[in-house]
Amino acid sequence: MSSAHIDAAPGQIADTVLLPGDPLRARFVAQALLADPQQVTARRNMLGFTGTWNGRPVSVMGGGMGIPSTAIYVTELARSYGVRRIIRIGTCGGLGDVAMGEVLLAQSGSTDSRFNRMQFGGHDLAASADFGLLRAAVDSAAEQDLAVRVANVFSTDCFYDGDPQVLDHLRRHHIIGVEMETAGLYGLAMREGFRALAILTVSDLFATGESMPAAEREQGLIRMAKLALACTEP
Ligand code: HPA
Repeated sequence: MSSAHIDAAPGQIADTVLLPGDPLRARFVAQALLADPQQVTARRNMLGFTGTWNGRPVSVMGGGMGIPSTAIYVTELARSYGVRRIIRIGTCGGLGDVAMGEVLLAQSGSTDSRFNRMQFGGHDLAASADFGLLRAAVDSAAEQDLAVRVANVFSTDCFYDGDPQVLDHLRRHHIIGVEMETAGLYGLAMREGFRALAILTVSDLFATGESMPAAEREQGLIRMAKLALACTEP
């Protein structure tokens, strides 16, 4: 039995999943870092792979863009495949004093999405990372000599033409990363009882409008994936 949007057989997805947005990045990470990677799902071309890392099974799967897409895959991974740990590896826009290419570990995900409110009685959920994973990422980054910053991020539903005032609110609250998924992932983790972390490379700077070149994005992806894998050590 597969789930509505994932056609892997039961047992084909590991209890730890790395989740980039782009399915081709999932393939790239799986082929670059996992031993014996096998494609386990391709419904709607949302590719997923399972292989091993240091002898333990790990999956890498695309989640799409935005909270609604991510939430469909994440909910099914948790409910139908028993996934216990999901580490998003993605990019974000940077605000304030962040530098291009900096790696942010999202401690919290604020949002303009109603997704968490809809499931939290209209109240404001403090969508937060799993502390154990966050601590493991901080420790592993130090071991890998990788500079990281624990950060508060904002997940927006509006990639284009968002409310310009929002950026002022974000700056005032010392939120330094803007992307589109983390708040939904963290809310789901809290409700469904799995552990989640988002590792984000700053790929755009709001101050200058500058964007990261594609080759550097690829290096950033591998750097994040290696850090994510290190956090899955027992
Ligand atoms: N906004 C929203 N999502 C993003 C951005 C951004 O500037 N950069 C990467 N993902």
